[in-house]
Amino acid sequence: MRAVAIAKRGGPEVLELREVSTPEPAQGELLVQVQAAGVNYRDVYEREGRGVYADTPIGIAGVEGAGTVTAIGDAVSEFSPGDRVAWHASPGSYAEQVAVAADEAVLVPDGMPTELAAAVLLQGMTAHYLATSTFPVKSGDETLVHAGAGGVGRLLIQIIKLRGGRVIATTSTAEKAELARSAGADETIEYDGFSERVRELTSGVGVCVAYDAVGASTFDGSLGALRHRGLLVLYGQASGPVAPFDPERLRTRSLFITRPVLGSHTATRDELLQRAGEVLRWVADGRLEVRIAGRYPLARARQAHEDLESRRATGKLLLLP
Ligand SMILES: NC(=O)c1ccc[n+]([C@@H]2O[C@H](COP(=O)([O-])OP(=O)(O)OC[C@H]3O[C@@H](n4cnc5c(N)ncnc54)[C@H](OP(=O)(O)O)[C@@H]3O)[C@@H](O)[C@H]2O)c1
Repeated sequence: MRAVAIAKRGGPEVLELREVSTPEPAQGELLVQVQAAGVNYRDVYEREGRGVYADTPIGIAGVEGAGTVTAIGDAVSEFSPGDRVAWHASPGSYAEQVAVAADEAVLVPDGMPTELAAAVLLQGMTAHYLATSTFPVKSGDETLVHAGAGGVGRLLIQIIKLRGGRVIATTSTAEKAELARSAGADETIEYDGFSERVRELTSGVGVCVAYDAVGASTFDGSLGALRHRGLLVLYGQASGPVAPFDPERLRTRSLFITRPVLGSHTATRDELLQRAGEVLRWVADGRLEVRIAGRYPLARARQAHEDLESRRATGKLLLLP
């Protein structure tokens, strides 16, 4: 079968389309014919060996996707060949076939296109936990969402609005500002001077929560945009890692900071099914709109990474094997 390998740590050019042997489903695993694989920032960090990924072994890229079960390993009772499933944490997903742990798979709802499930699972569950668990947004809460036209950003804006919050979103271009507004953002602002602008838009008070996955270039401003006892949710580092941080800086307004990951919010089968189920239901009934911004054959995985990293992407990017 064909798959996209990370030949060595580096830029998008290290992604190579290769002929490799088809995986065998081990005990507790499903073999899946991949219909769509999700392209995520995590894949970029892993390719570069950034942060916690410095020591992970390199191999086939990608962790997210959806497709049809073609075979099952021993001790699998929940799924059968022919089922359509989606997953968000199975290494080797940039491939025609992948072995997925049955514990990590969720059924794609009847009537939902398979590629739509691949497009929403990882980013949708991320937006879901950020707005419902990390900081459960309630009616009237003022929030800041960075990169509001991004994959997670647009979904996060929509979920905050479903919960009655107000959203100020940063974006880098007028076209992206329009996309953030179409997701429900109340205000869109530029990155330049965003901290001061947030204070103006909140009558000098600041926001209760700042959702920041841009990292290095926005971290200080995000802290400055918070109200007393506000929470900075640093959930990624698209612009690079944040420099070491002195906790004394939280003292000015008794601020909080957290660095959450999706894995802690899908750690049990029950929580995964509950979170994925709610996200997929919201997509199915139209409460959550998913924007697929690019579809690429496996051979163009490099281009997909370039588009994500160069800020050209305005929504989900998918590889279609
Ligand atoms: N912790 C978790 O559980 C978790 C899970 C999923 C994703 N994430 C994080 O969420 C973030 C967004 O992921 P995504 O897949 O949805 O990507 P994305 O938002 O579609 O793309 C990243 C966006 O960040 C903005 N950005 C600002 N400065 C940038 C820079 N120097 N370089 C690149 N981008 C920059 C760009 O939007 P503008 O041009 O509008 O600035 C860009 O489009 C990533 O940091 C990712 O690691 C975290």
